[in-house]
Amino acid sequence: MFRRHRRLRKNSVIRDMVRETSLNKNDFIYPLFVIDGNDIKQEIPSLDNNYQYSVDRLQEIVDEMKDAGVKSVILFGLPEHKDEVGSQAYAEDGIVQRAIRKLKDLYPELFVITDVCMCEYTSHGHCGIIHDHEVDNDETLEYIAKIALSHAEAGADMVAPSDMMDGRVGAIRHILDENGYKDVSIMAYSAKYCSAFYGPFREAANSAPKFGNRKSYQMDPGNIREAMLEIEDDIAEGADIIMVKPALPYLDVIRWARDKFDFPIAAYNVSGEFAMVKAAAKAGLIDEKAVAEEMLTSIKRAGAGIIITYYALDICRWIREENK
Ligand code: PBG
Repeated sequence: MFRRHRRLRKNSVIRDMVRETSLNKNDFIYPLFVIDGNDIKQEIPSLDNNYQYSVDRLQEIVDEMKDAGVKSVILFGLPEHKDEVGSQAYAEDGIVQRAIRKLKDLYPELFVITDVCMCEYTSHGHCGIIHDHEVDNDETLEYIAKIALSHAEAGADMVAPSDMMDGRVGAIRHILDENGYKDVSIMAYSAKYCSAFYGPFREAANSAPKFGNRKSYQMDPGNIREAMLEIEDDIAEGADIIMVKPALPYLDVIRWARDKFDFPIAAYNVSGEFAMVKAAAKAGLIDEKAVAEEMLTSIKRAGAGIIITYYALDICRWIREENK
């Protein structure tokens, strides 16, 4: 006697019925790059079919998101001027602050999340304030909190600190509450690894460090128990959603987090993961749509209910086609 597993694979109706993990339009957050200047829609060479938009051209991507059914974005800004302390990151009329107001104006139901970090705004490209060639944790916290507050003031629904300073979630929660933004939520990049998979993003966001690397603040790829400690602390400090990043090379981290914490888990399917699929598809080596769907399904199956991906528009359109 043996069990006939194939009975439940007989046709698509029964396969659809017994499927344990399915992708849904509500699962996805689209990373959106906004750039200072006018009349700009510039393709990002490292991220096929993704663009940097100036605030006055946001209508185009808003229309596409509405059409595809994308309901949420995470914003990254490319400022005109950088300085030592990344002052454009918390300027009231900074690029992200203006983009938030414009997006809320064009598409009020859009859920606007902001990446809270300094690397796109500092002249040295590091995610914090530099003293003696080191990123100073505690001084950086004041800046990170100020940035988050300026995003909330501009109308952000959620802030997502990606700097990996210790204590940042608590510092952000504190300043938001003090200023009456108790309903602005925090999605913490809790287990953010020091990854070579961020390469294409750093080109897209012009945020590569000018000296050294990010190993003294982002996590070592060999560690998983430490990731649980990072998550534990972020939850204790007030995070509403925890994140693992990158996604594909860290599916085990997502699974451990899912089993250990009863919190919503997000995963960032980062630029390098996206670029590899695109490059292989362009070389005629794989079927792009099938591989992208399989990749995103694996991230969800590992335990992430929320996925940040450059495929958000495509996948929402594909889901719509399949449901026709
Ligand atoms: C900012 C930030 C980075 C990414 C998201 N936020 C880059 C980095 O840490 O160097 C990477 C996203 C991606 O690769 O898609 N700190």
